[in-house]
Amino acid sequence: MNDGNNVSGGDCCCGGSGKEDLEIVKIRDESEWPSEHPRDEVESLLYEWLKPYNDTPPAIHKAVDYALGKDGKPGGGVLIGKVAGRYVGFVVVNKTGMGGYIPDNILVYIAVAPEQRGKGLGGRLIEATLNEFPGDFKLHVEQENPARRLYRKVGFTEKYAEMRFQR
Ligand SMILES: CC(C)(COP(=O)(O)OP(=O)(O)OC[C@H]1O[C@@H](n2cnc3c(N)ncnc32)[C@H](O)[C@@H]1OP(=O)(O)O)[C@@H](O)C(=O)NCCC(=O)NCCS
Repeated sequence: MNDGNNVSGGDCCCGGSGKEDLEIVKIRDESEWPSEHPRDEVESLLYEWLKPYNDTPPAIHKAVDYALGKDGKPGGGVLIGKVAGRYVGFVVVNKTGMGGYIPDNILVYIAVAPEQRGKGLGGRLIEATLNEFPGDFKLHVEQENPARRLYRKVGFTEKYAEMRFQR
């Protein structure tokens, strides 16, 4: 599907599409991590932009490690969204390796820069994510997070109630 987004494993330039040009850099492996986007910078912005729904920095680091397939994990990927060379959003996907009984992918994090919200970038990042990773997706979202409306808009449904036993 050509959605006007330009997805690459490295630098790219984007043609005009009528929408703001969104460059999406996709990283699946630590060796692919572009030096111009330091991982600690990406993780700390993600931490800030996820607020008030953020996890702790070590939890975000762990999810990114998983997405990069470290320690034999099934992997996934990190999508970095940029407009005019500036970061505008991030996505972290973890593959479950459980397709058939649990969805193949977890959309662990999506965050758009606060000043860039409401312009369709979050929706375009989700579309790019769904295009990049084959298989079904699941995600966790707090009941009161307005992002639920966006998730519904791109086709997520509330199929199951999630219950947790916390220690
Ligand atoms: C969720 C998020 C990624 C959406 O990014 P975005 O670029 O604003 O999304 P879009 O412009 O494509 O779509 C906006 C839609 O999301 C909904 N939405 C998401 N967050 C919203 C907010 N804080 N306030 C109001 N609406 C919000 C709106 O319903 C809107 O739908 P509409 O266009 O029909 O009104 C962004 O709000 C964000 O980074 N939030 C903080 C982090 C977060 O909650 N992440 C998800 C949980 S892991």
